[in-house]
Amino acid sequence: MSFPETLWFIARNFPIYPTLGILTYLLFNGIYKSIKGAYSGPLSAFPGPDFAAMTGWYKTYIELYQKRSWTTHLRELHKVYGHVLHFDRPEAYYDIYNSANRWDKEPTQYHSFGLDRSCFASLKYAQAKERRDILLPMFSRQAVTKLQSLVQNNIDRLCEALEANDAAGKSSDLFYGLRCFSLDTILQYCFNLSIDALGAPGFKAPAVEAMEASLPTTIVFRHFPLLRELVNSLPTWISMLVSPATTGLVRLRALLGRQVKQAIENPASLDDTPHETVYHRLLDEKANNGKVPEARILYDEAQALILAAGHPTANALTVGTFHVLSNNDIKERLVTELKQGWPDLSKTPTFEDLEQLPYLTAVITESLCMSPGIVSPLLRITPFGGATIGGIKVPSRVCSYILSTNSIAAQLTRSQVIVGMSGTFVHESEVLFHDAKTFNPDRWLADDSAVLERWLVPFSKGPRMCIGQNLAYCEMFLGFAALFRRFDLRLDGNTGRDLRYRECHVPQFLGKHLTCFCRPVEE
Ligand code: HEM
Repeated sequence: MSFPETLWFIARNFPIYPTLGILTYLLFNGIYKSIKGAYSGPLSAFPGPDFAAMTGWYKTYIELYQKRSWTTHLRELHKVYGHVLHFDRPEAYYDIYNSANRWDKEPTQYHSFGLDRSCFASLKYAQAKERRDILLPMFSRQAVTKLQSLVQNNIDRLCEALEANDAAGKSSDLFYGLRCFSLDTILQYCFNLSIDALGAPGFKAPAVEAMEASLPTTIVFRHFPLLRELVNSLPTWISMLVSPATTGLVRLRALLGRQVKQAIENPASLDDTPHETVYHRLLDEKANNGKVPEARILYDEAQALILAAGHPTANALTVGTFHVLSNNDIKERLVTELKQGWPDLSKTPTFEDLEQLPYLTAVITESLCMSPGIVSPLLRITPFGGATIGGIKVPSRVCSYILSTNSIAAQLTRSQVIVGMSGTFVHESEVLFHDAKTFNPDRWLADDSAVLERWLVPFSKGPRMCIGQNLAYCEMFLGFAALFRRFDLRLDGNTGRDLRYRECHVPQFLGKHLTCFCRPVEE
């Protein structure tokens, strides 16, 4: 029964006064249990705001009413309530995200995207592993290296558009340009699908604009899952009418839906593709132990891959480009190295060649460290019996309780403990990174850089870590190299304030888009 049908069923079948009575009882019972849990539950010893201890609506208030980033709020709470849960001890990150842990993902966070059947939103490790095993070969280093011409082709198209803008005396919106590059790449790589986002005037591709516009909705859906059900059950034309800003995304989804239908109804259509796609993998009976997934699974997986790949790679390129251009020494060193490693502009080096350049590698590593890739704490449910995180025993099986610190947000519901930590907190730690907020590629070239690399966690760690990092690195190496070797780039009025963002799982940047004058370099 769909959500509107369920509402209609309740309205028709339940008399109003008994229903109101039951709802009132449930409400007061909930309030009573919340207060009791906050003051006498096992976590009452942990300091934090009373309201947070009583109810999850606390987080709703911060994220939706105050429209603030949860991570920003956690930093403030920590200043007030102290370091009970390990901000000084980033090793807590490895207590949660390590290969030995098989902890479930938390449903409220991961189902807020409406892609419940995808690998990314699969809550159980075992479910996710099955899908990861199918997908991983497509994103292995070998597979990515083999398909790097596809990435290079998109970079070339980006560069052509930058040149055309420069010839017209205009600066270019690199924020959107890099998003178009990333989106075109993932669509071609995974689905052999082209929407030519890079060809859109001013890089204002409808799908890219819509992906940005839809970010705050993720937060609304996180707190109001029934609303998500309702919106997702709307026909396409109503969705576009209600939210015109997201039309590009609705259309992209419809396109993927048609592609999935065709792949299932006519698998022979896959024979013509120039390379293996996600559909080849997902519809391969052998890889799936004889079971072929239904259309809905393919559709969710397709969307999840676009969501997971689109934002973070473009963000790392954007944030890194801004920082390099804000510091002449760094820019000069990068350009000099690129000129040595790529002397003849007409002979574009490969991904493998570029990986040999130490300063470029350090710039990319620092960009990943400074960029808020997936910024929200990645919530996990600790196993029965609780867990020890950063030397502190986190109990389980208690009443509703939220515990918040600078680095860890632990929220306990009636029967489970939810813990999470944002990689951003690790990267910001002054204990680990000297002058952590300054963009400094040299830290990755110092003698102790191997030790530091343990704390580079943009792709997370453990059994649910990113499956797309090889592709992300390929995009970043080819992207940074082309931008800084082929162009003399200059910022068009951006400042550090433009990197302010609101946390919507991934960041929604609030400032002026990264805009650059891109003068092609003479041979
Ligand atoms: C710089 C770029 C990227 C960054 C920083 C990044 C970061 C992450 C992080 C932190 C996670 C863990 C999420 C969680 O635990 O909930 C993740 C998962 C994931 N990433 Fe990436 N990612 C990047 C690029 C990509 C690309 C290009 C793809 C394309 C294939 C991709 C596909 C995925 C998938 C499918 C998952 C879910 C894995 C699972 O749940 O088992 N990512 N990514």
